[in-house]
Amino acid sequence: MPEFHSLKVKEIVKETNDTVSVSFQVPEDLKEAYAFTPGQYLTLKLTINNEEQRRSYSICSSSAEDITVAVKRVENGLVSSYLNEVLKENDEMEVMTPEGNFTLETDQAKKRKFVGFAAGSGITPIMSMIKELSMDETETVFTLFYSNKMESDVIFKHQLDKLAGDNLKINYIYTRQKLNNPLLEGRIDKSKATELIKADLSCLNADAFYLCGPEEMIFNVKSALEEFGVLNTKIKFELFTTPVLMAEKPKQQEADENFDGEALVTVIYDDEEIDFNLNKDGDTILDAAMDNDVDVPFSCKGAVCCTCKAKVTEGKVTMDANYALSDQEVEDGYVLACQSHPASAKVTLDFD
Ligand code: FES
Repeated sequence: MPEFHSLKVKEIVKETNDTVSVSFQVPEDLKEAYAFTPGQYLTLKLTINNEEQRRSYSICSSSAEDITVAVKRVENGLVSSYLNEVLKENDEMEVMTPEGNFTLETDQAKKRKFVGFAAGSGITPIMSMIKELSMDETETVFTLFYSNKMESDVIFKHQLDKLAGDNLKINYIYTRQKLNNPLLEGRIDKSKATELIKADLSCLNADAFYLCGPEEMIFNVKSALEEFGVLNTKIKFELFTTPVLMAEKPKQQEADENFDGEALVTVIYDDEEIDFNLNKDGDTILDAAMDNDVDVPFSCKGAVCCTCKAKVTEGKVTMDANYALSDQEVEDGYVLACQSHPASAKVTLDFD
């Protein structure tokens, strides 16, 4: 179950003009709680101008290093600006234990082949995977396509170049810098993704494809890969924002036939059971639980991050959107509480 702890900021490194990496010191008794799989993220809780803010940032370190996230300053980004400009080493910060499904399957990683497509700060979770794999003396090969405006925007350039070799093949792609190689210039739209793959068709034999960056890039690469016949189950992607292009109605249960809209909802969290009444057209179950003083976990509230994942153990629930849970998880009864509304007279949601 995800929970917050106060951690000390051990180190802040300026990676580029607008990106810092922030490492945390994890006390011995919390080491297990902060163990993570490369690809996962941390949710940070801060109070800025007297208002609580939560943001999730992907982990960029390997399991052998201090747990570290990278934060790119976004225009008018309250939290990303604070973390880039105000945060200091030795500050304390509320950090949630690692979460997320965009993970490297490490036990199967030996002698495997992976392909990553990243743009900008989308390199962060992929960096964690690459570092983790580089610690293994295996024949794993990771082919990376990494797009940025220009070389000075490349996060972790120095570290990536040091790791590059037989096990890590890197293709830097620049949208605003000439390289005398048209293949590596310009945005990764569908035709660019197709050209890049055609230039190294052995990529198509990869065991998994990791895509992380703006939704448009993910959408384009995913459809190019699908046209080459890559199985959907091999394509994993991580969205940092609520999708528009890939938005579709979530797979879920239908409401009970006799349901009149009024439900008694029970939320189980931290071994406690809390009951409240909720209308299907009212707040989400997450918001209603918070109004009833339950400190349920959440981060994005936009169906993207999966922090609010809970299991329906009684009754039925419908979701407004779901970009985080797999079909299998939905089939197994999991829902995103930030998107959930009751669909039967009695509903029990278990966060534990
Ligand atoms: S809080 Fe992110 S999916 Fe619900």
